Amino acid sequence: MRKTLIAGNWKLNGSISSITELVRGVSSGLQSLNCEMAVCAPYPYLQMVSEQLESSRLKVAAQDVSEHDSGAFTGEVSAEMLLDFGCSYALVGHSERRSYHSESDEQIAEKFNRLKLAGIVPILCVGETLAERDEGITQAVVSQQVLAVIEKFGISALSDSVIAYEPVWAIGTGRTATPEQAQEVHSDIRTLLASFDENIAAKTQILYGGSMNPGNASSLLAMPDIDGGLIGGASLKADDFLAIGQAA
Ligand code: 13P
Repeated sequence: MRKTLIAGNWKLNGSISSITELVRGVSSGLQSLNCEMAVCAPYPYLQMVSEQLESSRLKVAAQDVSEHDSGAFTGEVSAEMLLDFGCSYALVGHSERRSYHSESDEQIAEKFNRLKLAGIVPILCVGETLAERDEGITQAVVSQQVLAVIEKFGISALSDSVIAYEPVWAIGTGRTATPEQAQEVHSDIRTLLASFDENIAAKTQILYGGSMNPGNASSLLAMPDIDGGLIGGASLKADDFLAIGQAA
């Protein structure tokens, strides 16, 4: 049985005071939830959030990681550093990194592997653009993004990992995939994993991301292959984030 994971991705938002308030708000409502919850904080706030969440069920996560472990890579943050700051999860391959920073599948696979080596659970983000959906190549695009990791590091790399399906056209647009559209892609991803290893396929949490909010979370999370959510905008308000956790 897969546990539901609700992860908030704060992106480039927050300050010491707003994050302190947000963490306090979310922490105060956690008792009644029985899903796993995590927040992906901007790097400079990881330590503060870790300290604020010490012994809380809310897990700390990062939004990215370097594909290198150390050396002359100005501005990069390694998986070992994230571990030092108490990160349990980190995103890799978010579509904003793929498009604004030209991250390749190969680079994302390397980042994924760095996290695994450090003992941090990677959340591999995949998803098609609107043009790709209109062209009818959603399944091919998403499969290739998952296969990039499997081909480089084997299917075992996917054990104890999380995949987040985030259709690019639904991110921050207020336009959500219908539960059926999302379920279809989630099921395709699970079938792809099962073609390598049925046990890993059955265990892997596949999250949906893209304008998930308290109003649409229940219907999305009711689908058999949707095991949680990766939430952008709605994770910046404690009440909305908790309401999504409640829906789970
Ligand atoms: P929104 O929930 O704001 O659409 O963002 C989704 C996302 O990109 C989470 O990583």
